[in-house]
Amino acid sequence: MRVLGIESSCDETGIALYDGERGLLGHALHSQVAMHAEYGGVVPELASRDHIRRALPLTRRVLEQAGCTLADVDAIAYTQGPGLAGALLVGASVAHGLGVALGLPVVGVHHLEGHLLSPRLADPKPEFPFIALLVSGGHTQLMRVDGVGRYRLLGETLDDAAGEAFDKTAQLLGLGYPGGPAISRLAEDGDAYRYKLPRPMLNSGDLDFSFAGLKTAVLTLVKREGLKHAADIAAAFQLAAVEVLAAKAIEAMRQSGLDRLVVAGGVGANKQLRERLDAEARRRRFEVYYPPLDLCTDNGAMIAYAGALRLAGAGPGDGRFSIRPRWDLGELAAP
Ligand code: KG4
Ligand code: ZN
Repeated sequence: MRVLGIESSCDETGIALYDGERGLLGHALHSQVAMHAEYGGVVPELASRDHIRRALPLTRRVLEQAGCTLADVDAIAYTQGPGLAGALLVGASVAHGLGVALGLPVVGVHHLEGHLLSPRLADPKPEFPFIALLVSGGHTQLMRVDGVGRYRLLGETLDDAAGEAFDKTAQLLGLGYPGGPAISRLAEDGDAYRYKLPRPMLNSGDLDFSFAGLKTAVLTLVKREGLKHAADIAAAFQLAAVEVLAAKAIEAMRQSGLDRLVVAGGVGANKQLRERLDAEARRRRFEVYYPPLDLCTDNGAMIAYAGALRLAGAGPGDGRFSIRPRWDLGELAAP
């Protein structure tokens, strides 16, 4: 079965074609980062309008890459939520428009389920069950994943998400949006030990996170020191964030007794986080799996893939046109 995936939940239009037997046949992405940069964050109305402009040209490009036409598509998957309502509506409309025109089943996919399952697009792919560290701009969660739709929340952030902390810290340091890659680049020239930042909830005895205090500590530091040593502040921040994320992930591995850790979401692209987790995995004898680097941040491939798994398990679903801007991953059931 070939599934066309459409992602439009935030500031990236992602389209992909996934084949149940041959894997990913093509994917294309348009990032709106440059458009939103001058506003310091995503402007929802501009995002929606840009998704409208990009969705069909990207679809054509993906089909060309794959050597296919619309006649070769068997089903359509789109991001139903969570995300920006107007942006989600664009993907839902394109998906259902194509579905009606072509007489194809249409399935709505949970964006975080897409992220969670995306490491299975890499080779080798993690088998179930595994622990997932989901670290994106909107979420920071540790989940136990026993299969498609079988997710148990083990811990999550009580305030800011990890990616949000990177973005807000970047703003304090006068760097652009999105902050993650910018902090990471600046930190390479910095001394992570010139300043000591807090490790919030490191010893809280549970698997929850908190990043708001870390951001406030950076604010205090910037007020005191100015931006003369911005690279050192970026490095200290990154080290603190990575240490907490890694420590909690390792604790989840220990408590669960599982030996596979999956890292997904935009912050999963962070080089220092990867190095830290890889080193811990070697030492503690577990495996860590990441999505291919270009599929860490939002993309259509993860939506096409999750859609294919859902369609394989449950048939076409009810095919209703709907979006869910707020949607808890825990509400999902197995297909
Ligand atoms: O998963 P994603 O593309 O979108 C959401 O669903 O939120 O994640 C975006 C987040 C942003 O906060 C961005 O700053 C962060 O991922 N990010 C990074 C890196 N690349 C992206 N954070 C740290 N290091 C990176 N290399
Ligand atoms: Zn995402």
